[in-house]
Amino acid sequence: DMAQHVRRLEQVFTLTPQRMRMIVDAFIDTLEIGLAEAGHAVPMIPTFVFGFPKGDEKGPFLAVDLGGTNLRVCHVELEGDGKFEITQSKYRLTEEQKQGEGQELFDFCAECLASFLHDQYGDEDGNLNLEDDIALGFTFSYPCIQERIDQGVLLRWTKGFGAKNVEDHDVVEMFKKSLEKNKVPIKLTALINDTTGTLVSSHYVDPKTRIGVIFGTGCNAAYMEKVGNIPKIKDLGLPEDAEMAINCEWGAFDSEKHEHLPRTKYDITIDETSNKPGQQAFEKMIAGLYLGEIFRLVTCELIDDGVLFLGQNTYKVEKPYAFDTAFLSLIESDTTDELLLVTGLFTHFFQLDTTIPERQFFKRLAQLIGTRAARLSACGIAAICSKMGYVDDGCHVATDGSLYNKYPKFPERIHEALVDIFGEKGRGILTHHAEDGSGVGSAIIASMTHKRKQEGL
Ligand code: BG6
Ligand code: GLC
Repeated sequence: DMAQHVRRLEQVFTLTPQRMRMIVDAFIDTLEIGLAEAGHAVPMIPTFVFGFPKGDEKGPFLAVDLGGTNLRVCHVELEGDGKFEITQSKYRLTEEQKQGEGQELFDFCAECLASFLHDQYGDEDGNLNLEDDIALGFTFSYPCIQERIDQGVLLRWTKGFGAKNVEDHDVVEMFKKSLEKNKVPIKLTALINDTTGTLVSSHYVDPKTRIGVIFGTGCNAAYMEKVGNIPKIKDLGLPEDAEMAINCEWGAFDSEKHEHLPRTKYDITIDETSNKPGQQAFEKMIAGLYLGEIFRLVTCELIDDGVLFLGQNTYKVEKPYAFDTAFLSLIESDTTDELLLVTGLFTHFFQLDTTIPERQFFKRLAQLIGTRAARLSACGIAAICSKMGYVDDGCHVATDGSLYNKYPKFPERIHEALVDIFGEKGRGILTHHAEDGSGVGSAIIASMTHKRKQEGL
């Protein structure tokens, strides 16, 4: 009986090489359309980050990073030779801050920055011993439509955020207001996405880097595009052969008509019960915020069908988002014969006893969900590589985020999928963990911006 369910789930969660190639083709079209015209689901946002760093960027910078698991504040010292020193503090956001009044969210960011500065650089009288004119980069990892590097209007919240009165507002203006309120004497010079930061900071240490990707709470990518290939900004009159980083916001792929991704009924439930139904279709099948919930929905279905946990009280599993994606990571990492770690997880967190076949089922289910996420991720990477002509010579893909860094075999599964898509050539596309993308990235971008201003650009 269990075997029959496993077979059905294998069928709905497995992506064949042929299916992946179809997704890649549709993905390439989506990227092109987003570059051609404004207003599409995948917005292909011009970032006003012009080209890669030279590697000689130097000096001290500050960065505030909002959008991953934690709010981070960093002081970065670029040493001018592809090296850097970083000091940072992390702060946890509450659910009220994520859903409450938007200005208060930025107030909290400013308060964290103020307390970081006082701890690190304040003297007894409360004066700050900071370098003059130190610039602040703001990594804000949500889709923002920009007209300049130091401005950006939030298109929509993603990743479950819902703070009020931020969508359609300039988030730089809002953050500056909070900085003034908290008397933080620092100049905000650049607004960036975590993917752009990862792209730029990784290129600083590894010039073969072509794409920056995040697989964390959300999922998204950035790469460098020729201005001549971005028809929708033709009116700006920028030189055609200049380069600009594009924040793809690819999490929105296939959100318009749902015609390319093999969504299951579980994916549809996740979408319909989310705070943003009909949005981020691709992200909802891949990102860390959702994988545990997909696992839970399948589990609940089999509880209802009388297949799992017979005769036990399962109310704890019935609570939405009761399974963290870290839970799946742990299940997948259990290599003992009797899956003893899985036993412990269920008894400890859910007061449920499991049989060996049940535990084997859970491990298989986690494998299916984790593998599908990695293979879909590979489709996005493959689309950018195909479109940009990176496949023949290969390239490096700088990657960060909890899913990539912590989920067992996630990188290996991406690489396997790239070979399924491209054959042997797929081996030339190498993802690797990028160290401290957004902190260092926003420092470098702040420095590049400063240089451009000095050069009168
Ligand atoms: C961090 C980056 O390492 O990863 C952040 O510095 C990024 O900018 C984050 O947003 C994403 O991962 P997660 O898992 O925290 O969403
Ligand atoms: C979401 C955000 C995007 C971000 C990604 C990874 O997709 O919309 O801006 O880059 O998560 O954090």
